[in-house]
Amino acid sequence: MRKTQGRVQEAASMGQDFRVGPTCWTAFARGASELIRDEWALKLAGEEGARLNARFMDDLGARFMKDVVALRTVYLDNVIQDFVQAGGKQVVILGAGMDSRAWRLQRLARASRGFTLFEVDEPVLLDMKRERLGPSVIAQPLCRRVEIPAALTCTEEWGGALVDHPNFDSSVRSLFLIEDVSMYMPEQDFRAALAKVSALSARDSIICGDWVPRITVQGKLPGATSDIIAVFGSECNSPWLYGPRNARAFSNLLKEAGFATAEQLTSRAIEREVREFLPFGMAQQKIHLSIKSRSWTSYAAWAMCTFAPARLCAGAPSDIGLRVYMATRE
Ligand SMILES: C[S@@+](CC[C@H](N)C(=O)[O-])C[C@H]1O[C@@H](n2cnc3c(N)ncnc32)[C@H](O)[C@@H]1O
Repeated sequence: MRKTQGRVQEAASMGQDFRVGPTCWTAFARGASELIRDEWALKLAGEEGARLNARFMDDLGARFMKDVVALRTVYLDNVIQDFVQAGGKQVVILGAGMDSRAWRLQRLARASRGFTLFEVDEPVLLDMKRERLGPSVIAQPLCRRVEIPAALTCTEEWGGALVDHPNFDSSVRSLFLIEDVSMYMPEQDFRAALAKVSALSARDSIICGDWVPRITVQGKLPGATSDIIAVFGSECNSPWLYGPRNARAFSNLLKEAGFATAEQLTSRAIEREVREFLPFGMAQQKIHLSIKSRSWTSYAAWAMCTFAPARLCAGAPSDIGLRVYMATRE
């Protein structure tokens, strides 16, 4: 235990080598959003998440990034919950970091028998999560949760560790989530990760996640946004490295790996879908808003934030061009 704490403290103070900063800030953004009820997010974010938020999002004016994270999270929550509702038996979160879905997505509690959620990440990140949540929370996810300690690099055998796990079955439909990770990976690692996911995916399995376009990664956005992203990346020692040229290039990449793109959406398009959930549009809602537990009281709570989406992305120095996607194994 002492050894683990030592490693976690060391990682937190160094930030860099273990890519602690970005995942802590992402958790902070979820905790601070009106769109998501994530009671663990601020704990998971820790001081690092709050510090990064103050430095970059408040001081430097990139508050809109919080909304981008929230909208992306809502979309991906929805994809996962649909998969689970349709009887899906295994969800694999690649680069899980401080993701709290195992405790947060209520539908997981009603998953089919034998359902397992796998979290793949560097051992030190998984240790940090355990320490931040504490033993009682860690012991009570809403479903069976399995940690696979491994980095998503070309050389690391994370796929083998998954296949060897008795609860993983590559002949069964899976959902692979790779959220807020692709931009931090060298292109060859991302391509290798897609190929591995493909090899582990039975027909009709789902891959979902997000990406940012090449111009964002290359720092060619107008206004201050590129500078903010660059400073964030260098202070966390996690620069953004990879982005496809455009949506078609990303679809082609998925196609090469055997996946047919079902959907690619900008954060503004997700925002429009979220608007459909507003009281008068409830009947057509597509987004389940896992965040609110769908009781009348929670609808009422949601109605009270009716105008929250109107504020989303307001005052953005620039759109970073982030897209979320979902694709199925052919
Ligand atoms: C920005 S965080 C996102 C965490 C989580 N997916 C979420 O949305 O909350 C990126 C995560 O990917 C993990 N990761 C694993 N292998 C990686 C790799 N080769 N390159 C970049 N990140 C990697 C990091 O450790 C980190 O936890």
